[in-house]
Amino acid sequence: MAIEHEVETTGLAGWIDRRFPMTATWKKHVSEYYAPKNFNFWYFFGSLALLVLVNQIVTGIFLTMNYKPDATLAFSSVEYIMREVPWGWLIRYMHSTGASMFFVVVYLHMFRGLLYGSYRKPRELVWVFGCAIFLSLMAEAFFGYLLPWGQMSFWGAQVIVNLFSAIPFIGPDLSLWIRGDYVVSDVTLNRFFAFHVIAIPLVLILLVVVHLVALHEVGSNNPDGIEIKAKKGPDGIPLDGIPFHPYYSVHDFMGVSVFLIIFAAIIFFAPEMGGYFLEANNFIPANPLQTPPEIAPVWYFTAFYAMLRATTDPFKIVLMIIIALLGLFALVRARGKWKLGLPVLAVLVIVAMAFTESKFWGVVVMGGAVISLFFLPWLDRSPVKSIRYRPFFHKVFYGIFVLAFLTLGFLGTKPPSPASTLIAQVCALIYFAFFLGMPVWTRLGTFKQPPERVRFKPH
Ligand code: HEM
Repeated sequence: MAIEHEVETTGLAGWIDRRFPMTATWKKHVSEYYAPKNFNFWYFFGSLALLVLVNQIVTGIFLTMNYKPDATLAFSSVEYIMREVPWGWLIRYMHSTGASMFFVVVYLHMFRGLLYGSYRKPRELVWVFGCAIFLSLMAEAFFGYLLPWGQMSFWGAQVIVNLFSAIPFIGPDLSLWIRGDYVVSDVTLNRFFAFHVIAIPLVLILLVVVHLVALHEVGSNNPDGIEIKAKKGPDGIPLDGIPFHPYYSVHDFMGVSVFLIIFAAIIFFAPEMGGYFLEANNFIPANPLQTPPEIAPVWYFTAFYAMLRATTDPFKIVLMIIIALLGLFALVRARGKWKLGLPVLAVLVIVAMAFTESKFWGVVVMGGAVISLFFLPWLDRSPVKSIRYRPFFHKVFYGIFVLAFLTLGFLGTKPPSPASTLIAQVCALIYFAFFLGMPVWTRLGTFKQPPERVRFKPH
């Protein structure tokens, strides 16, 4: 039985309700949205992501009032905001710190999904929209980073746009088309500005709306990974569900308070965060004639950047061998059309790899690392959703995966050496093995029986 949301019929609210579903929307998504009663702190990060999104939009609007998207003025307009515009320094630091905190919050939010299997049926689309948000967020951060027109802005954009030139046949023309010039220039700055302030934010907002609509259609998962809708009372309300408002609005308020303390502490005491949030080289105006000694992206991209750098010629050969072995495995074990299809695909990929440079495959590996996330709902075949009821070795695999990702992130901030490249290659293999091996390893081991009703201890 679907829940009936009664609406106002009198007063101003009644007048509006007869013309616009105000009360019904509030009830459906807030005061009568029944969320599982056992949410823990991991469930703070969705609302925190919303908060940071609003922070970025509001501070972004104020920055745009004084920023000049012109290669001769951009750097000094940011300095002007920092020194002359009343409270400009605060607005700018809120925006730059907000960018990094966005990724902190979103990485933790995604990890929560991984822990509790929140991407599994029926929440596949919630996850897929989430992955699209993550991709757009990366694009938004990349375009935004060019705007201060510092050395890192310029050379970071130069390096990333040049990666496209490694794509066979169309690559050089494609990177020229993206830049709008033979090097990153005023033309590039103008189009990146357009993307950063209007195009991508619109996409992001739209994706966040569909993310939440999809979530509210199926209902929230919870740390036990069991469906609360399976046990409803006579009124149609899940027995383990509590209204989002006031219970979780208060819960989230507490998360927001702690977050704001940390956010303010960074803004006021360590806005550069030791070079991780704002890089030293970016306090030098862009100089197309002088390459900085080290070009490293901001921390939130470094794990993927390390995978790109790790794809050297010898690593390409390792990848070719792995693909050959997978092709052989498919020939022996696969059934139906896959039995021949997969080995043929493997041979085609190996031939393509033999004739193209490893830089291109670095781009494929880096892109593949993000794209793999989209397929998670169909890769994980575990009979239970939550990590709580999985075998111990699953927890070990999760631990190794997280460690490999963090190691990649760390290595990406450092200049490469033979030893660090080798470690990054091992970590990249772990990253992909975790996802691609999922259809096999997630089924193995002894699973605990999840409880009938969610576990909840009032505190
Ligand atoms: C701007 C970025 C994002 C915003 C504002 C956002 C917002 C939210 C909110 C408010 C919720 C409900 C509260 C909660 O469960 O924490 C939620 C749930 C969820 N989000 Fe996001 N999200 C964002 C990005 C992502 C990303 C990048 C992913 C994954 C790739 C993702 C996957 C999920 C999943 C699977 C759920 C359901 C969790 C559950 O029911 O256990 N989200 N999101």
